Amino acid sequence: MKLLLLGSGGREHALAWKIAQSNRIEQLFIAPGNAGTGAVGTNVAIAATDFPSLKAFALREQIDMIVVGPEDPLVQGIYDSFASDAATAHIAVIGPTAGAARLEGSKEFAKAFMQRHGIPTARYLSVTADNLSEGVSFLESLPAPYVLKADGLCAGKGVLILPTLDEARQELQAMLGGMFGQASRTVVIEEFLSGIECSVFVLTDSRHYKILPVAKDYKRIGEGDTGLNTGGMGSVTPVPFADEVFMEKVRTRIVEPTIDGLQQEGLLYKGFIFLGLINVEGEPMVIEYNVRMGDPETESVMLRIQSDLVELLEGVRDGHLDTKRLVEDPRTAACVMLVSGGYPEAYPKGYVIEGLEEAARTDSIIFHAGTAVKEGHVVTAGGRVLAVCSYGATRDEALACSYRTAGLIGFDHKYFRRDIGFDL
Ligand code: AMP
Ligand code: GLY
Repeated sequence: MKLLLLGSGGREHALAWKIAQSNRIEQLFIAPGNAGTGAVGTNVAIAATDFPSLKAFALREQIDMIVVGPEDPLVQGIYDSFASDAATAHIAVIGPTAGAARLEGSKEFAKAFMQRHGIPTARYLSVTADNLSEGVSFLESLPAPYVLKADGLCAGKGVLILPTLDEARQELQAMLGGMFGQASRTVVIEEFLSGIECSVFVLTDSRHYKILPVAKDYKRIGEGDTGLNTGGMGSVTPVPFADEVFMEKVRTRIVEPTIDGLQQEGLLYKGFIFLGLINVEGEPMVIEYNVRMGDPETESVMLRIQSDLVELLEGVRDGHLDTKRLVEDPRTAACVMLVSGGYPEAYPKGYVIEGLEEAARTDSIIFHAGTAVKEGHVVTAGGRVLAVCSYGATRDEALACSYRTAGLIGFDHKYFRRDIGFDL
């Protein structure tokens, strides 16, 4: 088949790498892609949210399936846009309908959905300017610290965790006043949960499901999980505490009620569900839903899927995911992100990346996140530049391999965390 993958980060290079290995693929296009995806498929200069241009391209190239990497096109309704257009209705879009994508697009919707279906999550109250005083009372009823979440999409920046009640009150006012534009006109106040987090990815055809290898990501810029939040500094899979007992709870209390709940509410979902979970003394609780794969978890999770991913996606398309097999690689996989010095604040771009050929001769697999080709050289083009991924019999082995390879790659002001996996 001919497949079009949308997005341009490390997640998309990892998906493209895995999809390109399938013998069911005749041609793979990535829109818009990056320097890495261009090596496993054909990049197309169309933005992932430009539906008219994507449709014209898909029809011209006779695309059979579209796999959506990032959340924006999903929340903006790419599934519905293709399905409701007679010209494109035959093209399978892997992802939720816009109605179901509200699980990520609206924190308020996600919390109310979990409440309706008895899915374990932190207590909350949804606040707008109209019930501010109720919001303040709710804050006063909670112990510190305080969690405030903008309702809408904020490119991962919409969650504030405040140490004192005074700060929480102030920030609540500021958020409602437009700190994140329209996205924070509604704010979800949550009880703070204490525990260790993990990312569970579920592939569903809206009736059947498969749970992909469980991963953990590292979001903060600094070692020991300190400093500013980033798009993700590394990941590992599997996660030791996500053992059989824990995963049985995840399946029965979270995954199945989620899929049943979507069905009961008539919300069609054929795609990846990302459960951001926290382990509170052995009990899994949902921190958030995302309606796509995670980044940088995908970069390590793809290494651990032995089955043909495209066959699984065909199962999703046809509603026969139950007839497909998901075989996991028993090894550990680890991903270390090389980032531009200064990220996640301002940083320069355009530095030549050296050592990529040498790195390619190692056992590591390098996914490009923020790169571009300039005058024949691969150069830095984003905050997160490269994901260095490796297998190992153990986590230490996988990480050691990634760190060795990371040392072979050079660009000005390169930075990476040396403690990925430290808390497992
Ligand atoms: P999110 O953007 O929803 O992923 O939230 C960002 C991060 O904030 C999460 O990965 C958690 O580390 C943290 N967080 C969100 N909600 C809570 C909560 N209720 N209790 C503790 N930490 C939270
Ligand atoms: N790794 C977290 C995310 O993709 O949102």
